[in-house]
Formats: sequence, C-alpha cells, structure tokens
Amino acid sequence: MYSSFASRLVAWQRRHGRHDLPWQVKDPYRVWLSEIMLQQTQVKSVLDYYPRFLARFPDVASLAAAPADDVLAQWSGLGYYSRARNLHKAARMVMDEFGGAFPAEREQLERLPGVGRSTAAAISAFAFGRRETILDGNVKRVLARCFGIDGFPGDKAIEKRMWALAEQILPADAADIGPYVQGLMDLGATVCSRGKPACTVCPMVDGCVAAREGRTGELPTPRPK
Ligand code: ADE
Repeated sequence: MYSSFASRLVAWQRRHGRHDLPWQVKDPYRVWLSEIMLQQTQVKSVLDYYPRFLARFPDVASLAAAPADDVLAQWSGLGYYSRARNLHKAARMVMDEFGGAFPAEREQLERLPGVGRSTAAAISAFAFGRRETILDGNVKRVLARCFGIDGFPGDKAIEKRMWALAEQILPADAADIGPYVQGLMDLGATVCSRGKPACTVCPMVDGCVAAREGRTGELPTPRPK
C-alpha cells in the first residue's frame, strides 16, 4: 500500500480539481442538500436545480416548515421522489431532534432519512472538517484499480474491505480532508473514468496496481453473471 495516496491526491485536487461548485461551502444544509441531489443525478442537472431549490428553501427551518407538496413540486424533474420525501422528513428531524443544527458526527448524520454512510461522511468531512471518507461507485473504481482489489465491489465482503482500506488511507491532517474527499470524487469523475481512464495525466499512476499490470479494463471486477 502506498502511504502517499492522500498527499498526492490532495496536491492534485488543489491544483487540478473542481473548486467552483456551488455546494463547496461550509453550511451543512447546503452540503447535505447537494449530496442528496447528487446521489442519483448528474452534476450538470444538479447545477440547474440546486440554486432554484435554495431560493425557495434557503435553510433547514424553511424546508421543515413547508408543506410536503411544495417540496415535491420543487423537486419535480430530479426524479427518484423518495429522496424528496426523505429530505423533508430529515429537515423536520433536524429541527425537532437536533435543535435546528445539523450534527457533525457521521453516526448522528446517518440517523437522517436518506443519508447513508457515504453521504453522512461527505457532510461530516465537507461541512465540519471531520476525517471521514466516502465510498461511492466512483471511489470503489479508484480503489479497486490503485490497490488492485479483485472481486465485485457490490459484494458485501469486498465492500467491507474497501471501507476498511478507505479509512486507512485518509490524510493524517484534518485540514486536508475537504480537498481529499473532493479529490476522490474529481479523480473518479474525470481521470479514472470507467471506459477510458486517462492514466497519462493521473496523479496516482506511479503507485497504481491496475496501471502497472495493464488491468484498468478488468478492474473493478464486473458483477458476476
Ligand atoms: N457527487 C457526489 N457528491 C459530489 C460533490 N460534492 N461534488 C461533485 N460530485 C459529487
């Protein structure tokens, strides 16, 4: 395993990553909202919907107080409407159970409807600077390739290994956690893409098992037939 994974990724993100996304802020409400929208919707569409949703519901109190129909109407077009229902429920829970303030700890955030481990980690890291890691499909691909992890990442045992690895390679300094988590997202979304990874410009290529062994086409292992 290479211990410089985090430092390379952070240096790359600071220089080449995305810095102009409207949800790159410290307000946990704004971070949470973006992460829910981005669960099943592309960045391009979220860039369109996000400001409109925020204009109508600028904070968690206004969202919690709104009628369910208004929330669903604002969500209209984004799809996967259970997200909107969970969003509304979670907003009320933040008001009723957390006194109107999002908790900082991942475990507490995971109690909110619609917030799984990876989403909770993103909020905890971005909004509160906690040393937490995400593990979505893009990050699974990056880890499978860099560390040469065989096996379908949707498999519970493989996923568990990946969570353990992802936690081990976090940057030591909490000040780096924002760029690190964003770097994982940026690398997976741009350089280490599924079809044609851009290994020649990848900051991780020197230590990458898949690049060294010519296995980027095989990793991550596809779902078994
Ligand atoms: N996908 C999920 N979360 C994201 C984020 N914060 N920025 C860009 N893409 C994402």
